Amino acid sequence: MTKNYLKKNLYDKHGTLLLSKGQELSESMIRKLEAKDYKQIREMIAKDEDLQHGRDIRSNSQCIQKKFKIDNEPIINSSSKIVTDILFESKDQPWWLYVNTLSNYVDWLYTHSVQVSVFSVMIADALNIKELKEIALGSFLHDIGKLMIPKNIIDKPKKLTDEEFFYIRQHCDLGISMVKEFNLPQISLDIIQQHHERLDGSGYPQGLKDQQIPIHSRIVMIADILDAITSYRPYKSLRQIESAIDELKADATKYPQEILEVFSTFFKAG
Ligand SMILES: [Fe+2]
Ligand SMILES: [Fe+2]
Repeated sequence: MTKNYLKKNLYDKHGTLLLSKGQELSESMIRKLEAKDYKQIREMIAKDEDLQHGRDIRSNSQCIQKKFKIDNEPIINSSSKIVTDILFESKDQPWWLYVNTLSNYVDWLYTHSVQVSVFSVMIADALNIKELKEIALGSFLHDIGKLMIPKNIIDKPKKLTDEEFFYIRQHCDLGISMVKEFNLPQISLDIIQQHHERLDGSGYPQGLKDQQIPIHSRIVMIADILDAITSYRPYKSLRQIESAIDELKADATKYPQEILEVFSTFFKAG
């Protein structure tokens, strides 16, 4: 049965919060609200028949398998299942509307989010990290702050100006501010905030260094870069995974080599 979700907070005439965005509303609640002078309530509702996200995790996983030349099928299947479960559990959570928006905002952003999430879980699993669900959620939402950046900047087919790049760099802090009321696990929050940090302190937003960047954020840092390099974007052509890994291995001051080591267990030889 179709579920209805509030797209934004609903306030009464005194400005008191009546219902929070993301709240599920039954048909009888909607009718009661309409009867109480909230005539616009139906315009504030999203329907979950529009929200069909689990559908393509499998195809995204196959895409990762091909793109990253991975022959460890069990690990890709188990990671894909964890991300699918997290997405289905998210349907009852207040951040679901962001997930839905993510899939409609810029074509490649949702695909990138799914693929970074599956890939991050694979790496974490290979490193025997137990908090796979927290990592799946954080990496799925890692670029959620980009929803607050104008589309013409996110999807610009040319090099960004300094000013545009300044806006892009805000997406980690914006992401945190978007989810701060949702009680997400700390690991997921760290990932949203720290995935653009670099070991030598040259990253953003905080310029963290070395051990200040926890293992889960290091994992998503690498998954994010590798997915970006090996994917098509309107402003660049894609490159092969081998050349992407060579580039990151050549810069040990910036990129955590212990994460890159894991990749030898995933890849097809040659
Ligand atoms: Fe990002
Ligand atoms: Fe990203």
